[in-house]
Amino acid sequence: METIKRMNVEENDFKQLFWQISPKEISDNMFTLVMDNFYVITAGNEAHYNSMIGSGGGFGLLFRKPASWCVIRTDRYTLELIQKEQTYTIAYFSDRYKEQLLFLGSQSGRDSRKMEEVELTGIQTPSGNMSFKEARLIFECKLTQITTPDPDDFCTQEARDYIADAYQKASDYRKYVFGEVTHVWIKQE
Ligand SMILES: Cc1cc2nc3c(=O)[nH]c(=O)nc-3n(C[C@H](O)[C@H](O)[C@H](O)COP(=O)(O)O)c2cc1C
Repeated sequence: METIKRMNVEENDFKQLFWQISPKEISDNMFTLVMDNFYVITAGNEAHYNSMIGSGGGFGLLFRKPASWCVIRTDRYTLELIQKEQTYTIAYFSDRYKEQLLFLGSQSGRDSRKMEEVELTGIQTPSGNMSFKEARLIFECKLTQITTPDPDDFCTQEARDYIADAYQKASDYRKYVFGEVTHVWIKQE
């Protein structure tokens, strides 16, 4: 079993691994990025952080700031830490890390040691948020809004069916989590 692997900042400065770019400089097609990949959401601090896999969501402009949105089930431990810390990261990886990512989506950090066991290397950004050395693209986000949409807000049958299924019990509720994108980091190749 792997022991927890955090980067020693003296050994490996975050800025030697990642370039900071502006949101407009991201060369990925954002639909391809969101539709063809899942991502790792991480919240917490260096002493204690937790990650889960997310899918869907997106990026855009909210309150005149670059923004992200994710749909997160109420019972996710990562959501609890997002609410506590008010910041989080969203990270995309190349396909070669798929197995490690799926591991983060296979069990909750609330009652497992997945963060110690995952074969990825935790790294702290200069702002103090946590992500992973192996990521290729990292968004740092500041929590803007968490909202639980009302079933009556949905207009298509498909959306109504989705939300009816999602709202069977309180722990199933989907929270819509909006964040301001404060920093974007891309792996230096
Ligand atoms: C491919 C994939 C995509 C997922 N997407 C989401 C998602 O968008 N929202 C969500 O709440 N859970 C999603 N999950 C489930 C969580 O990642 C999973 O329940 C995780 O163990 C929660 O961890 P936590 O309780 O430690 O936060 C996904 C899982 C997988 C495998």
